[in-house]
Amino acid sequence: MQNIQSIADGILYVGASDRRIAKFENLFPIPRGVSYNSYVILDEKTALMDTCEMSMGGQFLENVTAALNGRALDYLVIDHMEPDHASMIDAVLLRWPDAQLVCNAKTVAMLRMYFPGHEDKIASALLVKEGDTLTLGRHTLQFIMAPMVHWPEVMMAYETSTGTLFTADAFGTFGTLGGSIFADEVNFAEDWLDDARRYYTNIVGKYGAQVQAVLKKAAALDLHILAPLHGPIWRRDLDWYIGKYDLWSRCVPEEKSVAVLYGSLYGNTASAAEALAARIAAKNIPVRVFDLSCIDNSEAVAECWRASTIVLASPTYNGGLYLPVEALLNDLKALGLHDRTFALMENGSWAPQAARLMTAKIEELKSCTILEPKVTIRGRLSDAQQAELDAEAEAVAAAL
Ligand code: FEO
Repeated sequence: MQNIQSIADGILYVGASDRRIAKFENLFPIPRGVSYNSYVILDEKTALMDTCEMSMGGQFLENVTAALNGRALDYLVIDHMEPDHASMIDAVLLRWPDAQLVCNAKTVAMLRMYFPGHEDKIASALLVKEGDTLTLGRHTLQFIMAPMVHWPEVMMAYETSTGTLFTADAFGTFGTLGGSIFADEVNFAEDWLDDARRYYTNIVGKYGAQVQAVLKKAAALDLHILAPLHGPIWRRDLDWYIGKYDLWSRCVPEEKSVAVLYGSLYGNTASAAEALAARIAAKNIPVRVFDLSCIDNSEAVAECWRASTIVLASPTYNGGLYLPVEALLNDLKALGLHDRTFALMENGSWAPQAARLMTAKIEELKSCTILEPKVTIRGRLSDAQQAELDAEAEAVAAAL
């Protein structure tokens, strides 16, 4: 059954939601699934804005066919070549062989990698660059290059008559669309923001400077609709969501708060971390506590972006760090977390090393501070160490 909805005058949503997928990029757990958004513009000329992941290809083709309602497809605009949006290019070209590809020079090289059987279409693609326009009738697309948000070929397209910005991965989120496709029809702050933050930080987080560059370009546009490739479409309160992106891409904490993230084999490090969290909370500081063995690393990364202070507690394991703690620190380095305050707690029954090893990894992050004192646990926290916990909580509060 076709499933299309209007998002603006002459612009139809033709995307699809995958509720069966377990992991995005076969890596990040997405229990709420994900949507692959795509759009058709109907005018004197018709245009399809990106395609879909192959898993939802049947629904997608049915939607595009219904949206075109017997008309030819004139243009297939490729804003992003990652296969979650591009894997149906081959099917689209086979079904609408007269469609002309619209993309930029960087896209062409990737098209040749993924779709070598379409050399004739690739060679005749309409190549666009920053500021170029494509008039479809009363709709005009203006192209905005957005390299590394999140691949080098990424571009956005601004439709001038409706103020719709097709944003590629930017402003996307994990989660499926259930009937409602607009952010103002769901409780985004309550039900979606955590997944949006997790999506941003893990997928695009490394490219904050590039996101900032695009936000500056977007600020010059008369924006009415943000149409991302994943998740709800924004037609109200755009500034609220753009504000989140501004914070995330500058790696500025969303709130003055503390994330306590611990690894623990048998509960002793967990118990000490909880005791520290209670002392911090007693100072009226918002605290959230996570067992790194019980959450996905992508959730921990997102919490590190949200909070201003990060408490890490790790056992010493085979002379190194406990693996979930090490994995988090490796990801924070890879994704470029910066400007955070850390407090550390280590455990070691015979040769504690974790504080030294965590310190070395944090020192690889830009502009991060490690508070003193650190707490060292030998097996389990002793009653005699209560004052050490108090001192660490005091240091966290003073640095907030
Ligand atoms: Fe949703 Fe970078 O692809």
